[in-house]
Amino acid sequence: MDVAEAIKTRRSIRSYQNVPIEKEKIEKILQAAQLAPSAGNYQNWRFVMVRNKETIKKLAVICANQSFIADVDTVICCCGTKPDHVMSGGEKSYCVDVSIAMSFMMLQATELGIGTCCIGAYNQAKVKTLLRIPDDVRVASLLTFGYPHFTPAPTDRKPLAEIIAVEHYLQPYQ
Ligand SMILES: Cc1cc2nc3c(=O)[nH]c(=O)nc-3n(C[C@H](O)[C@H](O)[C@H](O)COP(=O)(O)O)c2cc1C
Repeated sequence: MDVAEAIKTRRSIRSYQNVPIEKEKIEKILQAAQLAPSAGNYQNWRFVMVRNKETIKKLAVICANQSFIADVDTVICCCGTKPDHVMSGGEKSYCVDVSIAMSFMMLQATELGIGTCCIGAYNQAKVKTLLRIPDDVRVASLLTFGYPHFTPAPTDRKPLAEIIAVEHYLQPYQ
C-alpha cells in the first residue's frame, strides 16, 4: 500500500476484534511517531502506550464513557512535554507536533491493516492521574489501535473549493 492509498482507506474505527497486534507491527507504528517532524526538531513529546486491559477499561470511562475504547488492543496517549513552547508565529507547538506524529502512526497502522481512532473526548486530569503523567505535561489526544471488525464507509468531506484558497484567503480553488 502506498501513502495515497493509506490516506484514502483510513477510517476512524470504533469496533475492534479481540486479536492482539503483533509486536513488530506495534514497533513500526511507534517508529512512525519517532520519524515525524516537529518544531525545531525538539521532539518534545512522549507517547504512553497502554496495553493493559484493566487500564484500557478505565480509559474508556474517562474518555466520556466511549465504550468501544474498552475493546481496543492498544491506546497511545500522545503528550506534549513542553506544552508552553510557542513558535514564532505565536502558536503553541505541542498540538501541531503531536498531531503530525499521530497522522504518521495512523497511516502506518492503516498500511498494516490496523484500525485507529483519535480520541479528543477525555478528562485531561483523570488521564494524567491514571497514567502518572506529570503536571507540566499536556495530553494532546489519545489514539486507539486494533484490528477492525469492519471498515466503515467514508465520511463526507467538504469540496476543495470550500476549503482551499489560492494566492489569498478569499480566492477559492476551482
Ligand atoms: C482531534 C480529533 C478528535 C476526535 N475525537 C474523537 C472521539 O473522542 N471519539 C470518536 O469516536 N472519534 C473521534 N474523532 C474521530 C472523528 O470523529 C473522525 O475523524 C471524523 O468523523 C471523520 O471520520 P473518519 O476519521 O472515518 O474519516 C476525533 C478526530 C480528531 C481528528
